[in-house]
Amino acid sequence: MLVKVANAPLDQLNTLGFAAKASWLVKAEQANELPEIFDFALSQQLPVFPLGGGSNVIFQGDLKAVVLQQQAQVLSWPEIEPDELILSVPAGYSWQQLVLDTTSKGYFGLENLALIPGQAGAAPIQNIGAYGVELADSLQAVEGYWLPSSRQNKPARFDVIDAKDCALGYRDSRFKHDWKGRFIITALQLQLSKQAEPRLGYADLKARLAIKQQQPEATNLPLPQLIAQVVTELRRSKLPDPAKLANAGSFFKNPVISKQQADELLTLYPTMPHYPAANGSKLAAAWLIDQCGFKGAKRGSVGVHKQQALVLVHTGGGTAQDLLALAEEITSAVKNRFNVQLEREPELVNL
Ligand code: EPU
Repeated sequence: MLVKVANAPLDQLNTLGFAAKASWLVKAEQANELPEIFDFALSQQLPVFPLGGGSNVIFQGDLKAVVLQQQAQVLSWPEIEPDELILSVPAGYSWQQLVLDTTSKGYFGLENLALIPGQAGAAPIQNIGAYGVELADSLQAVEGYWLPSSRQNKPARFDVIDAKDCALGYRDSRFKHDWKGRFIITALQLQLSKQAEPRLGYADLKARLAIKQQQPEATNLPLPQLIAQVVTELRRSKLPDPAKLANAGSFFKNPVISKQQADELLTLYPTMPHYPAANGSKLAAAWLIDQCGFKGAKRGSVGVHKQQALVLVHTGGGTAQDLLALAEEITSAVKNRFNVQLEREPELVNL
């Protein structure tokens, strides 16, 4: 029996804490309940909107939709753990719990991605990444359903999509573009290994790990778990906890510009952080915003975090429109000063 709530408040279900209601909120205990949920949405003539942890969405108003929350929470570990493993993870599983579970068993793969909020099923959509690692590095395949299309008379269909067909890029995938609103992710297949090399390209991470490894309590812990602990400490020192201060993580992507423009900017701003990228140079959006004087800025009930200029915060009682006005102010200032266009990262939801 499906649990369906009409006119359901979503305030607690988005980490920006904006007030919004869903026409219907439906909880699925099992992936095989999805066809029934699609039938219900079709009967109501409403779209299905899958919601994970709500940590990467901006609700612009009430959602005229059937909001779907997947609840399946079971990981199946083999009795004897092999060195190399493909683990199937249900979409509703907490990402942070997954990092804790896998790293404490000694598996490498997700350790640099500790403390990222949200549920596993949302991870491929923006190809979550941190400290030099992306989901794409361990994702093998995505399981889910193609939504039924009444227009084309196509029923819902279960499918397994190879990760290499998902066009995973920097904070990007096909789930944000041509597959948007068409495919519901129900599980991930992740490649994990007990033998992999740690990825310590970030100087801060490497230095803090070396200190941690000298502590007596570190000696019995697997290396991936220690790395996850250091990443957790690093993130806690810079990023606000959404449970205490509403936010959606990085609000902008780090922009990629041509090598020529980066060189020109570097003659004016020699200390500007920049990193090689496939098609030019990647800049630190946080640095650009910080240079424009926005760190700690307040505009009524929204503002810029005082420790990380890339994170916009909501202190309560504000709206998506307030936040978008601040984002526009920041985007214009960065464009005027550096001639660099910032791009929003979280998804604007207007159904
Ligand atoms: N910086 C500033 N001012 C600030 C913050 C940072 O000048 O207010 C400078 C730093 O000194 C550094 C550079 O900007 O030189 C980059 O900062 P940081 O290493 O903190 O990382 P980021 O580029 O701002 C990205 C991801 C984060 C991820 C970190 C660590 C994006 C959009 N953001 O941030 O991801 O945790 O790297 O790998 O790529 C997220 O997506 O929600 C997120 C938090």
